[in-house]
Parts: sequence; structure tokens; C-alpha cells
Amino acid sequence: MNFEKYSAYPPVEIAGRTWPDKTITKAPVWCSVDLRDGNQALPVPMSVDEKVAMFQLLVSVGFKEIEVGFPSASATEFAFVRRLIEKKLIPADVTIQVLTQSREHLIRKTFDAISGADNAIVHLYNSTSTLQRDVVFRKNRDEIRAIAIEGTALVRRLKEKNGNPGIRLEYSPESFTGTELDYALEVCHAVMDTWGASEEDNIILNLPSTVEMSQPNIYADRIEWFCRNIKRRDAVLISVHTHNDRGTAVAAAEFAVMAGADRVEGALFGNGERCGNMDIVVMALNLFSQGVDPKLDFSDLPRIREVYRKCTRMDIHPRHPYAGELVYTAFSGSHQDAISKGMKANFNSNGGLWAVPYLPIDPRDVGCNYEAIVRINSQSGKGGMAYILETDYGIQVPKWMQPDFAEAVQGVADRTGVELSPSQIHDLFHSEYVTLKEPILLKKCHITWDDMDPELNQEEATSLSCVMLKDEKEFSFEAKGNGPLDAFAKGFVNTSGIEFSVEEYAEHAIGHSAGAPAIAYIKIGTADGRIAFGAGIDSNISLASIKATVSALNRLP
Ligand code: KIV
Ligand code: ZN
Repeated sequence: MNFEKYSAYPPVEIAGRTWPDKTITKAPVWCSVDLRDGNQALPVPMSVDEKVAMFQLLVSVGFKEIEVGFPSASATEFAFVRRLIEKKLIPADVTIQVLTQSREHLIRKTFDAISGADNAIVHLYNSTSTLQRDVVFRKNRDEIRAIAIEGTALVRRLKEKNGNPGIRLEYSPESFTGTELDYALEVCHAVMDTWGASEEDNIILNLPSTVEMSQPNIYADRIEWFCRNIKRRDAVLISVHTHNDRGTAVAAAEFAVMAGADRVEGALFGNGERCGNMDIVVMALNLFSQGVDPKLDFSDLPRIREVYRKCTRMDIHPRHPYAGELVYTAFSGSHQDAISKGMKANFNSNGGLWAVPYLPIDPRDVGCNYEAIVRINSQSGKGGMAYILETDYGIQVPKWMQPDFAEAVQGVADRTGVELSPSQIHDLFHSEYVTLKEPILLKKCHITWDDMDPELNQEEATSLSCVMLKDEKEFSFEAKGNGPLDAFAKGFVNTSGIEFSVEEYAEHAIGHSAGAPAIAYIKIGTADGRIAFGAGIDSNISLASIKATVSALNRLP
């Protein structure tokens, strides 16, 4: 590959940078650019109705600043802004933002679009980068600075003419990442002076990574340098707007906040030009996962995903951080086992802090269902299957039986090559262990407890009579033992001639109600070294244990 065609981005000369030692302790001011930057990058832009649906979604998530379009550039965007204002769709605590190039006729049209709005941010931009100055505009530094000054002066005049104190200015030296730092500062100072920016009438200076050209730490250095050198820090809000060309837009925005930025622009699920805008869902939930209130409500991600998909016709990758369909799903056995143990430990802990292996946040906090965390395919371990049977069906397969069941599940998964759903796993457990009636069938079973008599030998305290079929031939027996299972084993061995012993046994109620059925699990062994597992379910636990034994006998190899 011809890497010599490219050159390294210059580092920032900044002594004693402080941002690497900072932590983010509060959410920045968020501004959604879904309806502008996001929309302009869509193969099929949103219609007015879709924009209204997206706007309402953004409001419901809690955005207080929403860039609603570039109304001077398209009739649809103009109509949409008018619809918001005329139909009074903008809540009192939400400010719309409108983008305009720093050109007179576009600025005037933008003011027409926002006429009647109580509050609005007019977002003025012109490109300041060396490359665009040279090859696109063919203008020198002074001429480019003059564009910013003229635009700012016009916004100021139109604001005064409108008599609307609710109009604020945002200025972006577009392609800031391709602009010399000292020159970006010079243009921004000229904008501040032209506006007369003060603490009371502050402006937003937005420093976009229009194209992400460097590692995120270099972007953070630029933001720290800018915050240090701006002449009246109290007269400006520093905003960042990062794109994802190198895949680190979120990191760049996070580092920029550590470096002093007050405000962050971005889009849901990172929609936007080329590789997208900074993903606000990810950055907000990153804060959330560190115990910081993100001031945005992503507690119903499935709904947000659905509206987003409908409006934008864009997909969300199944591995998308926090939001992808597969991100709360573990396929590998060791992950499943650790999650299952972590879930149990977490529920028992009093600390209230989330600590489950492999799950950075509780899926329920974002409206996802942790029941679907464990899915079973041929790579899954026994822990995952046991977890599903226990959480979904109340069946607590004992440890000594889990490897046998895992083998059965993996056999099916290998044959079919697909993942097994929880109900398929449950059905398989039943067909493997619970409903086995051939070649041996239990037709009748009567149990009597004679142990009320203290004189009676406890070894014979239970009497049992059974009618059975083996290979369709009926036989019956009566036997005594220290319990129903012992009596059954003795009677069956004596009459059938099939020798076996009980090696493991466990039982429990399925559920907590009074009439809950019981389940018994058994492992039997024969003198010649064969073993088999079985399970039985009945409202009578004694009968469940005998049914489990019959199932195991039917599974003897
Ligand atoms: O990416 C960018 O530079 C922009 C500007 C208009 C702020 O979207
Ligand atoms: Zn952008």
C-alpha cells in the first residue's frame, strides 16, 4: 500500500497539558444534529413528517438544543422549521438551532425561517482550513476572516431588528481540524468582537473535527490550547462537533470535554456525513456507566432504535455499543457461565453497584431484556444451558447432570448449525430426560407409608406396589424400602433382573406456589459401568423420583 502518499498530522506544542488527568463528572450541554448533519448524509433524506417524528423523539430523550436543519438550503428544511414554529411543536425549554453559511442571502432566509420562534441558535459557519482557503475559495487568511465577520455582523443586525433576545449565535470555523490553531483563534476572536460577546451575551464557539484527521489526544490538545488562549473564556461556550473518519469520534469528544469543552454536538447512533457524527447514545451511556447522570434518557433503547430506523431508513449494527441487537448476548460457554454467576452474586449483594462479568451496564437500564442474554449454539457451555432452564423455566439441573445435557444440546446445535431458542432447550430437556416411556413404562404405582409405628424397621417403612410394561409385556411387583425410591429399586431389580444402583439424586419444587409440581433428577449406574441420567416431574415428589428412575432406565446404553 502506498503509505508514502500520506503525511502525519502535526502534534500540538502545549506545555503541561492538563486534560489527561481530568475525569468527566457531569454531562456536557448536548446538541443533537440528527435533523441537519444526520439528515444531510442520508441516501433518502427525511420527509417533513419523518422530521417531526424524529424531533419528537429527540425531545422525549431530553435534548434541550436541537439543530433542526439548514433552512436556507432546502425547501423541505424551511417547511419543517415553519411547521415546528407555526404548530407550536417546540417545548418552552427546548431551543432550535439552524445552520447557515456566512453568506448574506442565506442568513436572511434563515431569519425568515425562524421568524416567530421564542428562542433559536443561529449557527453560522465558513471554512477556515488551509486546504479550502487555497483550493476551494482561493482567498487568503484576511479574506476568509472577513467572511466570518460580515456574517456575524449581519446576524447581530437581524437579531436586533427582530427584537428577539432569544436569538443566540453559534460560530464554527468549519474544518477546524485542518486549520492552523492560531488562525482559528484569530477568526474566533474577530467573531467575538463583532458580536460584542460578554458573560451575559455569550456565544457558542464550535470547533469541529469536520474530518477526523488525528488521534483523539491531539484533538484534545487543540481544545485545551484553544481554551487557554481564548481571550474571554467567560464570554464563550466551547462546543465540539466530531466526525468519525478514524473511528474515534466518541473518544475525541470525551477527551475534548476533559480538555475544557462545555458542549457536545452529535447524532443518535453516530449517523452523519461519511463515517458519521459523534454517537451521542454511546457518549451519554459511557457517562452513565461511570455513575454520571447523562441528562439524556436512553432507558428505552428499543423504542429509540425503532423510530430512528423508520425515520432514517438506516440500520444499526448488531454489535453497536449499547444499542446493537447482540450486545447483551453471550454465545461462548465461559462468558455464559460467568454472567450467570455474576447475575446471582449481584442480586444478592447489598451494595447496589452493578458488577456482572462481561456486562458493562445492566441491560434492563436501557430497556433490554436480560432473559435473552444467554443464547445457545454449538459453542455454548453447560453453564449457559443451565442458566436458561433455571431463569426461564425454574428447572435447576444439578451440576452432576449438566455435562450430559450440554452434550445433547451441542449435538443438536452441531447438526442444525443454528442457535437454539430457550423453548427448544426446554423441549430438548423434556424429550431427553422426562418423557421416556420405552421400552419400560410405569403403568400404576401405589405407595404406602407404614412408618407411623415406632416399632417398625425403618429399612422397610415404605411399601410400594407397581404395574409396569417392558417391551409391551406387563409385570408387577410389591416391595418395601426406607423410602419410595429405595422400595422401587429393590422391587424392580428383583422382578426385571436389571441391576442398577442410584449414584446421584436431587429434587426441588418448580416454582414457589403451594401446588407447584416437583422435579427429581437421578443418575444410575450398573455393575458393568454403564450410567444414565433421568428426570421426572409430578405433583407428588415420590412419584417424580420413580418417574425419573424409569426415564434413566430407558436411557441406559
Ligand atoms: O462537520 C462540520 O464541520 C459541520 C459544521 C457545519 C459545523 O457540520
Ligand atoms: Zn458535521
